[in-house]
Amino acid sequence: MKPVKIGVIGAGSISEMHFDSYKNHSDVEIYAVCDLNLERAEEKAQKYGASKFFSDYNELLALDEIDAVSICTWNNSHAEISIAALRAGKHVLVEKPLCKTVEEAEEIQKAVRESNGKTLQVGFVRRFATNIQVLKKFIDAGELGEIYYAKASCLRVLGNPGGWFADKERSGGGPLIDLGVHVIDLCWYLMGKPKVVSVTGNTYQKLGNRANIQNKSYYKAADFDSSKNSVEDLANALIRFENGASLMVDVSFTLHAQKEAMDVSIFGDKGGATIEPKLEIITEKHDTMLNLTPQIDALTFDFVAGFQNEVNHFVDCVQGKETTISPVEDGVEIMKILSAVYHSSETGTEVTF
Ligand SMILES: NC(=O)c1ccc[n+]([C@@H]2O[C@H](COP(=O)([O-])OP(=O)(O)OC[C@H]3O[C@@H](n4cnc5c(N)ncnc54)[C@H](O)[C@@H]3O)[C@@H](O)[C@H]2O)c1
Repeated sequence: MKPVKIGVIGAGSISEMHFDSYKNHSDVEIYAVCDLNLERAEEKAQKYGASKFFSDYNELLALDEIDAVSICTWNNSHAEISIAALRAGKHVLVEKPLCKTVEEAEEIQKAVRESNGKTLQVGFVRRFATNIQVLKKFIDAGELGEIYYAKASCLRVLGNPGGWFADKERSGGGPLIDLGVHVIDLCWYLMGKPKVVSVTGNTYQKLGNRANIQNKSYYKAADFDSSKNSVEDLANALIRFENGASLMVDVSFTLHAQKEAMDVSIFGDKGGATIEPKLEIITEKHDTMLNLTPQIDALTFDFVAGFQNEVNHFVDCVQGKETTISPVEDGVEIMKILSAVYHSSETGTEVTF
């Protein structure tokens, strides 16, 4: 079989996970790299053995020999590049969030439908984590019963990365669109993707980026500028679904909290599961409540394995062996929820669908 030729667009931090995973795949050739910063594109091309590099993604997409692209750029270009890639006949793996708005998401969906069967996979990487794949088997076998409630907290006490993440124009928002997207999608996916009927949300911009804080380190984007921050630092939401199920979520870049929190749980009428900080399945047998701990290598989100599984699945889809488990339609639904949280917060009302 001919190798799948890949182009990677956006050669910053997360592209490393895409490059490494493609590199480990025996059916893949990393063929070209593009970044607005040409030096960065050249450096990654050399590191990963790509023969071509560009600063304009149109030049990369014009190469007939490229089968598929990973889009790892800022959120403001996901829609434009996804649509251009599909029109150029490429399969697309686009980083989360799918894009910045519902309108953009629907445009991408239209381009997928007009693409003659090309795959667009949204980078909801947590779906591909080993602990989630294990839990999904229990859910699919009905062992949790009907999942009627989920709760997710992803709270950073000091973690506004600044740079493009803090620039609403390029990111589309703060912790909600950056971190909330992962945990909202994960719960929604495990709940069986129920149709959303209403969203109530609140966002707060009270603490800023807190560049004044000393003696505590945190990740900063390359173009961190302490004077620039136009995104919320906290968001919370109550999301209600057609089947009566509900999801409560809160996420922050910074908060006066005692410590960081990553807590995700789902609750069904036959059993429940704690997903983060580590997988535990909760059930009842012979009138006794049980906490079941799977014996697996990683009970928590394993970043490297998650990306490898995501890329392996994408390559299977490109080769026509599989249909993606993370399609554009799911990206559109998640964009509807995220946008509704912002809208509800701005208007002080519940958004109904
Ligand atoms: N799945 C995850 O867990 C995860 C983690 C981090 C980031 N991400 C997502 O990955 C994307 C990139 O994030 P990052 O942390 O790598 O950011 P980054 O700033 O480190 O890298 C982004 C790169 O994209 C380049 N770029 C921006 N617009 C471009 C364009 N139009 N054409 C070519 N290059 C362009 C920039 O020059 C930069 O080098 C974002 O969408 C982010 O939400 C996902």
